[in-house]
Amino acid sequence: MQPKTADHKSDQTPDKAPGNIIDIQAVSYTYPDGFQGIKDITLSVCKKEFILLAGKNGSGKTTLLRHLNGLVLPDSGQILVNGKKINDHLIATRKTVGMVFQDADAQIVGDTVFDEVAFGLENLKFERALIIKKVTQVLEELNLYDLKDRNPRALSGGEKRKLAIAGVLVMDPDIIVFDEPFSNLDYPGAIGVLSTIVKLNRTGHTIIIATHDIETVISHASRIIIMADGKIQQDGDPKILMPMLESYGIREPCSSKLGFGIQPWH
Ligand SMILES: Nc1ncnc2c1ncn2[C@@H]1O[C@H](COP(=O)(O)OP(=O)(O)O)[C@@H](O)[C@H]1O
Ligand SMILES: [Mg+2]
Repeated sequence: MQPKTADHKSDQTPDKAPGNIIDIQAVSYTYPDGFQGIKDITLSVCKKEFILLAGKNGSGKTTLLRHLNGLVLPDSGQILVNGKKINDHLIATRKTVGMVFQDADAQIVGDTVFDEVAFGLENLKFERALIIKKVTQVLEELNLYDLKDRNPRALSGGEKRKLAIAGVLVMDPDIIVFDEPFSNLDYPGAIGVLSTIVKLNRTGHTIIIATHDIETVISHASRIIIMADGKIQQDGDPKILMPMLESYGIREPCSSKLGFGIQPWH
């Protein structure tokens, strides 16, 4: 069964402008089979934060992320993006919140890298000249320009993940959400994706990364949110929360275990 989709009616309470880029208010979601994926989540995100959403497998990270651009709508509670309820502003929300999912392969639709990145803009009926300009710029930014005529299915794992980021970035979102961005990548692939994400944050994007393996990215995070059993268990400064990770089934980085605090991963 499919999760609930975006055509459900929203309630009629007016929008609020809380000053946060994302405001999640008492959101719960139960899958059609009766399993409660997330429970009473309340969470605010400020512009330009770099948030690490940590939790062991099945803790509810993906379920929560899918709410952020209205792929799934909550059973109760509501989500505001830029102060606007997403149920009433789905198109604006999807422009603001870009999602990079784990299964980059399954999302490939273009025959070339260039066409793959152009896809979203073509759907929006942008002029060809503008599409060429925007796609070229993004491919250059991500060091993918030399691959522009290649078949996207034939790229390496790291290149495919960067291609998925390019497809999101070309739509110019303020917030970029990554679900397990380092899974199945080799070391150079993970370094390439990590440096891309860090650069996006430095150029003003709000970043949310969900992962059960935090070592790669922890030194860049301004905040860590720990989930377990569909709930937020901890939310705060990575340095302070580090010693608690293992009690939630998340591996504590080696440097921290050895008493050296949080160190860059590479
Ligand atoms: N389509 C679905 N139907 C029923 N339960 C689901 C579905 N998708 C995920 N779940 C359950 O919801 C819980 C949270 O899953 P998920 O959000 O994918 O966790 P995480 O991303 O932290 O690994 C898990 O117990 C998972 O089995
Ligand atoms: Mg997940």
